[in-house]
Amino acid sequence: MTKSIFITGKIPEIGIKMLKDKGYLIDSNPKESILTQRKLIKFLKNKDYDAVLCFLTDKIDRHVFDAVPSIKLYANYATGYDNIDVMEAKKRNIHIANAPADMSSEAVAEHTIALMLALAARIVEADEFVRQGKYKGWRAMNFIGTDILGKTLGLIGAGRIGERVAYYSKGLGMKILYTDLVRNERIEKEHGAVYLKSVEEILKISDVVSLHVPLLDSTKHLINKSNLSLMKPASFLINTSRGAVVDEKDLLEALQKKVISAAALDVFEFEPDIAPGLLRLDNVILTPHIASASIEARNQMAEIAAQNIIDFLEGKTPKNIVNK
Ligand code: GLV
Repeated sequence: MTKSIFITGKIPEIGIKMLKDKGYLIDSNPKESILTQRKLIKFLKNKDYDAVLCFLTDKIDRHVFDAVPSIKLYANYATGYDNIDVMEAKKRNIHIANAPADMSSEAVAEHTIALMLALAARIVEADEFVRQGKYKGWRAMNFIGTDILGKTLGLIGAGRIGERVAYYSKGLGMKILYTDLVRNERIEKEHGAVYLKSVEEILKISDVVSLHVPLLDSTKHLINKSNLSLMKPASFLINTSRGAVVDEKDLLEALQKKVISAAALDVFEFEPDIAPGLLRLDNVILTPHIASASIEARNQMAEIAAQNIIDFLEGKTPKNIVNK
């Protein structure tokens, strides 16, 4: 029987073509809007789907599993999969795959560097100033920023993204510190990164702190009021991981009180909502969860997600199953 796939939003054509070439029928959410769980369930009940290609905005948990118990594969179009209850899925023999594209690590690392340089050179504030017609001529003390050369970068999380951030930061002449659950010899050898045991040590010493950990019970609010106060007053915090790794309310207060100098956030604790006070601050840069949105990354993610589905439907174990 012809296999059917449901895709919860638009993805690059390259992935669709791979699935169509296998003769699968493909339905997708016709709108670009994010599906509520109720809407998603409604779509999934329309037909006997064999697999779902879902997004990090789709909450996949026991409500979905109860509603459509015959679907045995959810292929997440993301590296992170904190939107899916993987333990519950495992209990029910439902497979969950992610799409850890190399190019997505690359894109996130490049976005992180872009945010760091934009904070240092105050690019966004200055752009806003010009657009508002406030530029009345060169002044020696306008928008004084800071150099990155010689500064210390503290990486919290030294996986694939952390390594790529280290690669670029070394090129910018930064000293690199990192902490993680396990030591990463490659980041030490190739980029001269120095391992520190605790998050606290990283926060105390670094001029720029960048977060590259998955969202887990153990990393939720890893950055909070008490440890933000350890950071240097001139330091920057960058978050391109998951919003809830940072207690957003505590960060807002720290930025308002200048406990730290500035922050750049690509992710938010209650996405798409953003703590209202953040929008009024000029010492924060906000981007809408687009760190991995390069065309190279998006295409590779589509290929990986499609391949996960093809392998599963052909009776093989997909490479990226996360709940074996
Ligand atoms: C993006 O946030 C991803 O996890 O791929």
